Amino acid sequence: MARIAVFNQKGGVGKTTTTLNLAGLLARRGANPLVIDLDPQAHLTGVCGIAVPRPDASLYGLYAHGTPLASLTFGTHNGWKLVPSHIELSKVDTQFGRGPAVLSRLATALDREPQERPVLMDACPMLGVLSLSSVFAADGVIIPISTDYLAMKGAVQMERTLKALEHVLKRRVPRRYLITRYDARRRMSVDIERDLRERYGDEVCATRIAENVSLAESPASNQDVFEHAPDSRGARNYTELLQELLATDFIRLSETGVQPSVRMPPPAARTALIRQRDADSQRNVAAGLRLIQGRRTTG
Ligand SMILES: Nc1ncnc2c1ncn2[C@@H]1O[C@H](COP(=O)(O)OP(=O)(O)O)[C@@H](O)[C@H]1O
Ligand SMILES: [Mg+2]
Repeated sequence: MARIAVFNQKGGVGKTTTTLNLAGLLARRGANPLVIDLDPQAHLTGVCGIAVPRPDASLYGLYAHGTPLASLTFGTHNGWKLVPSHIELSKVDTQFGRGPAVLSRLATALDREPQERPVLMDACPMLGVLSLSSVFAADGVIIPISTDYLAMKGAVQMERTLKALEHVLKRRVPRRYLITRYDARRRMSVDIERDLRERYGDEVCATRIAENVSLAESPASNQDVFEHAPDSRGARNYTELLQELLATDFIRLSETGVQPSVRMPPPAARTALIRQRDADSQRNVAAGLRLIQGRRTTG
């Protein structure tokens, strides 16, 4: 079984990019991954072209009503299944508290799902119920570290957070630090890599994810990098990463869960989904503008 949380308290480090592309690779191998979007900003949900009609149909339904994950799962045109997010999830901490029952709710819900299916959890950058729940539910945590200003500070913060959680979990959480947005021409990238390897040794993935424009562009066309630019460096790097994670047993795929092939929806279905998403977002923008204008006139 493989339940992986992709987590770093720092935003913009490549959590969603890593989740999207590992999910795409696992789907292509026929491993039928389940992906959970835990970020109330719902970036990954948006990339999948899913507009959740109401909060209860998203992961929020689990916290508000105990809805089983199977009832909150959407098929995506990327070939894998998603439990989507919704902005209402940002209220989970205040509405349902931070007690052990809330923190283990996701883990318990996943225990009721087919165990041979790999699970990827795209955590939110805040330290709260949602991100901590993903660690509670995980067999291992991937910590993307973008090689930019304050990267080491983020890594040390994560180390502290995991250490604090381990007191509660009573086990060491297996982890891999993943260097992202690496640019060998930048001194900072080289220095950060050296510091990370010195401090965390084998827990730093040998594979580095390079700064690569295809990785940044693919979400805009609702695609992972393998569809958007299969020959790009980004596609190569993430392929190498999955190979490494499998070879080192950090991700273990059950033989029975792996299907021989995956069927991607036909291009026409994708176009329809993208059109629907664009129409939804135009409606949302229009509603937002009306709200702001209303406030101006009343205020
Ligand atoms: N290796 C990369 N090369 C270029 N751009 C990247 C790379 N990884 C992520 N990005 C871009 O950086 C931004 C933040 O990445 P994202 O995965 O959304 O981070 P997080 O989920 O941690 O907030 C996004 O615009 C994304 O497209
Ligand atoms: Mg994200």
